[in-house]
Amino acid sequence: MLLLATSLLLLLLLLGPPGARGGGGGETPRPLQNVTLAIILPQNNTAYPWAWPRIGPAVERAVRAVNADPSLLPHHHLQYFFRGSQNGDGVCSETMAPLMAVDLKMLHDPWAFIGPGCSYTASPVGLFTAHWDVPLVTAGAPAVSFDKSIYHSVTNTGPTHKKLGRFARRVCARFRWLEQVLLLFHDQKVDDRPCYFAMEGIFEELGKANITRVDRVFNEKLLPVNYSDIIPDIQQTGRVLVFLSISSPPHDTVF
Ligand SMILES: *[C@@H]1O[C@H](CO)[C@@H](O)[C@H](O)[C@H]1NC(C)=O
Ligand SMILES: *[C@@H]1O[C@H](CO)[C@@H](O)[C@H](O)[C@H]1NC(C)=O
Ligand SMILES: *[C@@H]1O[C@H](CO)[C@@H](O)[C@H](O)[C@H]1NC(C)=O
Ligand SMILES: *[C@@H]1O[C@H](CO)[C@@H](O)[C@H](O)[C@H]1NC(C)=O
Repeated sequence: MLLLATSLLLLLLLLGPPGARGGGGGETPRPLQNVTLAIILPQNNTAYPWAWPRIGPAVERAVRAVNADPSLLPHHHLQYFFRGSQNGDGVCSETMAPLMAVDLKMLHDPWAFIGPGCSYTASPVGLFTAHWDVPLVTAGAPAVSFDKSIYHSVTNTGPTHKKLGRFARRVCARFRWLEQVLLLFHDQKVDDRPCYFAMEGIFEELGKANITRVDRVFNEKLLPVNYSDIIPDIQQTGRVLVFLSISSPPHDTVF
């Protein structure tokens, strides 16, 4: 929570108040200028680490802490407006999120967006915020496709899959595992595809080191995975195995 408060404050200090501060003097108390944040996150699906029930209390507390101390943002009042990014099925929706972003922009003209977190929803919103030149801060949006040349408004405060890939590359370099890395991962091709995007980061970075890679997909939700089928494939195609699955514990990575 303290970290979030500090990050928010840092963000606001970086953004800086627009316009001149004037001479001060204190003769007539100026009305507080609003600093408005627009938040787009899943409203109640706590399967997402960045769902509002998890993030909301921290934002509330950070906003309260900043507003309670007038020396932090003199003459300003911090406020936020929230919109949900879920569709009727409760999953992150790349249709809902950009619609909500446009609503928030039109209604409140925010200084910055917080979220979306899912990669598929952050992608269209990130294009809008780049176009509007408004910062988008997210602990999610980890996919490698959030290239800074296009998504220059996006700031990731959480770990990204590019960094995961660099870690995998360092591990491979350290042990001189340079050939036949088998990338085996769960993918349903629905929702936010966490294993697919995580594996993409590893795939890309290992490729940069010219490490040979083979990828295999399985779908744990469709039918129980028959490990007797998979193990001979691992033996034949991989010298090193990177395994990503959604089975408990969630999103585990096994080298
Ligand atoms: C700040 O925002 C509130 C709505 O949240 C609005 O009522 C108020 O007029 C705004 N203040 C200024 C100075 O724009
Ligand atoms: C989320 O909210 C919707 C509608 O408000 C409700 O139907 C659904 O059951 C809720 N889901 C969870 C996980 O609480
Ligand atoms: C990968 O291979 C290409 C072409 O053979 C070579 O130009 C490049 O330097 C290699 N990169 C690494 C990191 O070994
Ligand atoms: C799993 O695959 C093995 C080898 O192909 C096969 O013999 C076995 O019957 C399969 N098990 C199930 C539960 O389908």
